[in-house]
Amino acid sequence: MRMSYPYVRPRRMRRDEFSRRLMRETVLTANDLIYPVFVHELAGRAPVGSMPGVERLSVDELLRVAETAAELRIPALALFPVTAPEAKSLDAAAAWDDEGLVQRAVFALKSRFPELGVITDVALDPYTSHGQDGLIDENGYVLNDETVDALVKQALSHARAGADIVAPSDMMDGRIGEIRAALEMDDHIHTRILAYSAKYASAFYGPFRDAVGSAAALGKADKATYQMDPANSDEALREVSLDLAEGADMIMIKPGLPYLDIVRRVKDEFGAPTFVYQVSGEFAMLKAAAINGWLDERKVALEALTAIKRAGADGVLTYYALDAARWLRESA
Ligand code: PBG
Repeated sequence: MRMSYPYVRPRRMRRDEFSRRLMRETVLTANDLIYPVFVHELAGRAPVGSMPGVERLSVDELLRVAETAAELRIPALALFPVTAPEAKSLDAAAAWDDEGLVQRAVFALKSRFPELGVITDVALDPYTSHGQDGLIDENGYVLNDETVDALVKQALSHARAGADIVAPSDMMDGRIGEIRAALEMDDHIHTRILAYSAKYASAFYGPFRDAVGSAAALGKADKATYQMDPANSDEALREVSLDLAEGADMIMIKPGLPYLDIVRRVKDEFGAPTFVYQVSGEFAMLKAAAINGWLDERKVALEALTAIKRAGADGVLTYYALDAARWLRESA
């Protein structure tokens, strides 16, 4: 005979599927997913070596993928261009070419799928010959205010092409306010701004830089003079508060899984629409382990996405968006 028994038994609620379902706090759905896609000038599709299953797409192929995404009820796509080396320059002028790849892709998407949200990346790295997100001085330092002027032109060009959301991922100071003002003056009052507010100088972006070809241009240089130090947390709150004050409609934390403490702090502090980028390196890690048979891909991917939402994200940019939406549909 035992002397004492616990009256409180948390395991009671875990005993059966019905009571586990009743007390589940976080439920991931397709509504939480944004699908990042790479577009190139070439015909057809080209695989990204360090991201198995991810491909660079022509505009025609992009439309096929968009149809699948819309069918799966994914709310939005985020576009990332692969710029040909000859289109890159010191002044990044191709970034605001109204006939540029991103602009054509946005126009094609919005004409075919008007309901599907289209997000564009505002940053100069696909267009600079040196691979930095901004314009540089003779020492290679990224110039803030000159870069902001260029980003304003780029964002306006995206808005004119029909982008629903422009997403500055460059981390220059003051760019949200300048872009907001320019959009208002140009009658794009409905164009939303998703600010990459807390974007860290992370090594997890490696596969993305392979995908868009900025790794070779960047060489040994890094982005530590504008992206945040992974060691910092208070600074993220300061960045978010500035971007919200300047008119950001949505804010982003990037990368995802190693930064969930930041997500929770930001959501608690501001209660603003908060998004997380599960970046290329996070995807590549899960993918590599899955290919080796070391992890169950479906389970770990859905667990990671649920954990990001549990930490406070309203939505996640993820290369797993199509797969996750399919898996969620199968298990519904
Ligand atoms: C560049 C940009 C990067 C990513 C999105 N926009 C890379 C970088 O800052 O070098 C990374 C996304 C990913 O790794 O999936 N403006």
